[in-house]
Amino acid sequence: MATFFSSAKLAAFVGPIALYVTILPHMLFLTTNKFEAIPAKKFCSIFPGTAFGFAAGIMSDYEYTLTGVNGTNAGSGDYSFNTAVGFLVLDTILYMVLAWYLDNVLPSQYGVAKPFYFLFQPSYWGGKAFTARNMKRRSSKFIRQSVLGQNDFEEDDESFEEIDDEGKYEPVTDRNLIPKVFIKNLVKRYPKNDFNSVDRLNLKLYENQITCLLGHNGAGKSSTISVLTGLYAPTSGDCSVYGSSISEELDFARESMGICPQHDVLFQELTVLEHLQFFKAIKGFDPSMEEMVNIARDVGLESKLNAMSGTLTGGMKRKLSVAIAFCGNPKFVLLDEPTSGMDPLSRRSLWDLLRKKKKDSVILLTTHYMEEAEILADRIAVMKYGQLQCVGTSLFLKRRFGMGYKLRVLMDSTITSNQPATSVSHDIENNDGNFNYVTSHQED
Ligand SMILES: Nc1ncnc2c1ncn2[C@@H]1O[C@H](COP(=O)(O)OP(=O)(O)OP(=O)(O)O)[C@@H](O)[C@H]1O
Ligand SMILES: [Mg+2]
Repeated sequence: MATFFSSAKLAAFVGPIALYVTILPHMLFLTTNKFEAIPAKKFCSIFPGTAFGFAAGIMSDYEYTLTGVNGTNAGSGDYSFNTAVGFLVLDTILYMVLAWYLDNVLPSQYGVAKPFYFLFQPSYWGGKAFTARNMKRRSSKFIRQSVLGQNDFEEDDESFEEIDDEGKYEPVTDRNLIPKVFIKNLVKRYPKNDFNSVDRLNLKLYENQITCLLGHNGAGKSSTISVLTGLYAPTSGDCSVYGSSISEELDFARESMGICPQHDVLFQELTVLEHLQFFKAIKGFDPSMEEMVNIARDVGLESKLNAMSGTLTGGMKRKLSVAIAFCGNPKFVLLDEPTSGMDPLSRRSLWDLLRKKKKDSVILLTTHYMEEAEILADRIAVMKYGQLQCVGTSLFLKRRFGMGYKLRVLMDSTITSNQPATSVSHDIENNDGNFNYVTSHQED
């Protein structure tokens, strides 16, 4: 039932009706007479309700004759008690396999549905190494490149960050920087919307760097993160995370991810320590007490280790969500507005933590704070209505799009010469800046 419905209420309503329907063949058409309509009875026993009805009917018939079901009569007749029980066992296996298969292939509100032939995909059965070996044969070159860790994709550059006629995307020239996450032509349109929340997003994220997604409310930052983490399936496009495609190998891709969602997803009844233990265990680690205290200290929660998450303030919950994102040393960390609701001091200590953690990993962070992006991000990507507007270092973006600064020089009224203002103008020009000199008279 859970496979077909995303709403628990609807499933609870339909569940009993479905159960009743599976009993109908037994109740309406077929009797428990063990010699009647054998093929039809066997066919209908595919429904567990009907098989159970037959088993119960045969049992009650024997009870009625004061014999009861025993070793000698359980197998007598063309449709015996044993036949019904055999079908029940078969049905149990059949429906378990069916539920598992449908759970994988049917699209649901959350998660990414696998293709119907996923059972025949080597990546489903094989390990990471096998998948990586298969990459060579794949057409998706961008995935290969991230597996091999090569920085030789200049020839493929036109596929990324779109064609850059207007110089809005700063090229990365440092050959030591290796992109490990490739977002390619990513589109996300929610079912009832008539617009794309993420619109043909092309972006490379580099190791040892913090990339910041900056944008207005509704720009598509959280949608991008939701698609990258597999919470929602992309409408089209793909992303490679350390060599694993989120469409084809989401489980592998997720192994290297740590996520801090925009809205805290915490268990009210668990303490900070239990959260850290739980999420570390999910990632396959058996953390020591010392490790967990260190993580809590990193985010400034060491004094709240034994406090239940329900009693934490908004800012503290954010800190816990960030700590959870870093559980298990993920290679690709996605932080959706991690500092929202934090006081300035906590925000600054989180910046320090992120700077420390960016080594050997890719950090993608969203924020509304320009100054946060400026201080923290190695590269800033600006989104507007789902589309990427520009990407580059803050210096690049300021040079390219900055409107400049206004410097007001106040002089004593006794000074009649313009000399002080002229010397300031010289200083700015010598520092590669443009200077427009406006007198107070002109400004009025
Ligand atoms: N589950 C959803 N169903 C339908 N539309 C959605 C859903 N989630 C987001 N949207 C729409 O997609 C667009 C992008 O939303 P998104 O949450 O990604 O923006 P955002 O940049 O994270 O904004 P904010 O800064 O406010 O968090 C918005 O127009 C929003 O209404
Ligand atoms: Mg958001």
